[in-house]
Amino acid sequence: MKRRMTFPTLAVATVAAMTLAACGGGTSEETAGGGTSEETAGGGASEEAGGKVDISDAETVFKLAFNQTAEHPQYLAGQQLGQDLYEATDGRYAIEVFANEELGTQADVVQNLSDGTVEMMYIGGPVMESFNEDFIVFNLPYVFDSLEAQSAVLNDEEVVGDLYTSIEDSKNITVLAGLHAGVRNVYNSKQAITEPADLEGLKIRVQQSDSQVAMIEAMGAVASPLGQGEVYSALQTGALDGAENNETVFDALKHDEVAKFYSYTRHLLIPDYLLINTQVLEEMPDEDREAFLELIPGAVEEADAGLVDFAEESRVAAEELGAEFNDDVDIEAFEETVAPLVESSINNDVRQALFDAVNASNEANAG
Ligand code: GCU
Repeated sequence: MKRRMTFPTLAVATVAAMTLAACGGGTSEETAGGGTSEETAGGGASEEAGGKVDISDAETVFKLAFNQTAEHPQYLAGQQLGQDLYEATDGRYAIEVFANEELGTQADVVQNLSDGTVEMMYIGGPVMESFNEDFIVFNLPYVFDSLEAQSAVLNDEEVVGDLYTSIEDSKNITVLAGLHAGVRNVYNSKQAITEPADLEGLKIRVQQSDSQVAMIEAMGAVASPLGQGEVYSALQTGALDGAENNETVFDALKHDEVAKFYSYTRHLLIPDYLLINTQVLEEMPDEDREAFLELIPGAVEEADAGLVDFAEESRVAAEELGAEFNDDVDIEAFEETVAPLVESSINNDVRQALFDAVNASNEANAG
């Protein structure tokens, strides 16, 4: 049975903050000065992120698996969601977030989620392709023009409703929401990258999916798909020359210590998703489930707005460590190398409709 989903409506302030960040990582005093996610969340969850509510006597505590640090806005929004859920259900439900891949890599945890031994997780878009290849559309390079365009699509039930429920029957997994995962750029230990030829022969880590392998190879590099937790030591030993990710991963996971050349290829605005085991969701009493679903948009909004600030703070921190950020990149040249991949990936009606929605959203959010 298909469930109706609730989607967030983004506050204007949040969208404005995202525009700034999307337009080239320019430093704004406000965000560089250590602004916190709570300050900019624009109507997100009630209390301070990481908040004050003791959930230890909740009847049911959902485990939410996360592969990044406890400073990350998705972690903070998840913790807050857990506390808000506790309050909204009079202590019947709460959520505890497990950071730093404590519950395993995304590829492993999603199997546990499907079995129901982990109830919730954040997952990168590419891993979803192994369940339903149509998820590929949002994982392709240079398809979204801005974070606002991405948000509008990810939160439009008309567009994504079927996609988000498409693996309920086969995998027992429901997508609760799509979130920003920042703007991804290439970094490595050798040199600044300005054009595709500079990537030639470099071993670059990508997320684990065929689309990501094909993408980085089209951009000129040698692809190495790996779980996120393995990247630091591979960079350190030289098994990898580099990776591609947003500034938060670059700094928080200390990649900036071992691969200091970060170049703004801006090849991906790729989503993360918040997942839940479908049966767990269905078994909640109606009233509690409704209360839970109503809290999701605020949590997404808080996480998305927080990420924009966190990326900027991470860039500043990485620069202090000696990382070098290069914004002299021939984006058009990279776009050309991946255009055939984009074209060949939009190969059925479902993907075409999603792709059309992306383009319409790009247009609607241009300017
Ligand atoms: C991003 C994203 C994660 C993803 C990670 C990765 O940080 O938010 O979901 O797992 O990149 O590259 O593996």
